[in-house]
Amino acid sequence: MPGEEGQATLMKILAAFEQEHELIERVAGALFRWAEREGAEADAQRFASFFSVYSSGFHHRREEEILMPALVRHLEVPADRGPLRVLRGEHGRLEVLVSRLAAAADRDTARELARTIWEHIDKEDSVLFPEAGERLPRASVAELPDRSMTAEERAARDLGERLVEQYPPLEDPEMIRGAGCIACSAFTVTCRGIEAEWWNAWEWEQHGRADAD
Ligand SMILES: [Fe+2]
Ligand SMILES: [Fe+2]
Repeated sequence: MPGEEGQATLMKILAAFEQEHELIERVAGALFRWAEREGAEADAQRFASFFSVYSSGFHHRREEEILMPALVRHLEVPADRGPLRVLRGEHGRLEVLVSRLAAAADRDTARELARTIWEHIDKEDSVLFPEAGERLPRASVAELPDRSMTAEERAARDLGERLVEQYPPLEDPEMIRGAGCIACSAFTVTCRGIEAEWWNAWEWEQHGRADAD
């Protein structure tokens, strides 16, 4: 059965995205344990199934089809460069890693997948969602369309919870996590940062004034 479509308040949809991150982040930790502690090879398929159906099919798709177009339409932020391009590119990269994990149950792919997920979530939680939550209301956007989970997506969510029980999440001691553009691997490489990419003339003027005061 398809997910039910409806309208959600902006705050509700952003809170839902953050809640979804919370599960995806824990399953990434479970995957990291699977990689480090020689988890059963057959479980690679179960992880891949969670990431493919729940992360890509439910979560990333709604970010790309609901949130990002709203930012482009109402705030006129660029879709083809800057943060949105970086984040969409990471969704694509994650899909490639998930396919590779499903095909080969490779532990290094699993580690790379977990690290890519963590960095991606840090960017969205610290930059994309706060910026959207602040800017969209300024453009009088209080609601966005959303949909509920399909039966298959709910089953994938439950599978994720079971994987977390089976493999208690493990952090990568070598990974330094951080907030904001400064922690982003794309900063100054393929993205000039939120101010340079998104600020309009009014914001530069206000910011400039605040700095001068
Ligand atoms: Fe995302
Ligand atoms: Fe996300």
